[in-house]
Amino acid sequence: MTLFLQVQHVSQIYENSSRALHALQNINFGVARGEFVCIVGTSGSGKSTLLRILGGLLPPTSGRVMLAGKEIDQPPPSIGFVFQKSNLMPWRTVKDNVLLPLEIQGRINNVAQERAQALLSVMGLADFADAYPAQLSGGMAQRLALARALIQEPHLLLLDEPFGALDALTRERLNLEVLSIWERFAQTVVMVTHSIDEAVFLADRVLVLGGSPGTLTDDIRIPLPRPRTLDLLGEPAYGRLRVAVRRAIGEMS
Ligand SMILES: Nc1ncnc2c1ncn2[C@@H]1O[C@H](COP(=O)(O)OP(=O)(O)O)[C@@H](O)[C@H]1O
Ligand SMILES: [Mg+2]
Repeated sequence: MTLFLQVQHVSQIYENSSRALHALQNINFGVARGEFVCIVGTSGSGKSTLLRILGGLLPPTSGRVMLAGKEIDQPPPSIGFVFQKSNLMPWRTVKDNVLLPLEIQGRINNVAQERAQALLSVMGLADFADAYPAQLSGGMAQRLALARALIQEPHLLLLDEPFGALDALTRERLNLEVLSIWERFAQTVVMVTHSIDEAVFLADRVLVLGGSPGTLTDDIRIPLPRPRTLDLLGEPAYGRLRVAVRRAIGEMS
């Protein structure tokens, strides 16, 4: 069986006027359908570059990415993206922000409206459907970005440090929500995070990027039982995996 997502010999060189920057070197890995994979690594190791390549937002300098057996060349609707900045449209209501991806495709109908309403309920934003992004807290804005990414029922969800700018408690709560969404909608998730705790808590596998240009230096299985709850944070097995990931990143402290 071929893997759902296959990254084959991907390298990225950014060509600027003055010099070329080699960001990624020969990245290879696969992700099975339904898997939750986290990518960690020091700043500048190419995590965001890799995620943009996975999403078809950036064509790799060499190599290719296959999604369900087809090469990705532009962002397909089957991929949902959430970035650290929520990129909401300030002049549109919460509900109209969720509907935007479907509106662009001319797919606004009653079903779409109902789906938007249902997603807002899942995200705890039902009462804010007619509010504007400026009226939302940081955590609510990211939940809205997540709802917008889910409206197209993506098969692959790509998250680039989606909660990186939020406080620890909000972040913990949103991570639990991401897990329940992943269980409920059964997509495949690839999430970049700089938090080792977050990666070990969420993932089936943690990929480690390192060096310059960035290479894939480790692929660590996280065989912790599911469903995962906050009780896990006190378990010795969780602690050991955190240490393993930290060592792999090379920032043992
Ligand atoms: N558009 C770009 N043009 C030139 N260099 C870039 C661009 N985007 C990222 N880089 C460089 O590529 C390297 C990897 O960046 P990035 O993928 O953002 O890493 P990370 O997300 O791991 O911090 C860095 O050296 C960064 O400065
Ligand atoms: Mg980044």
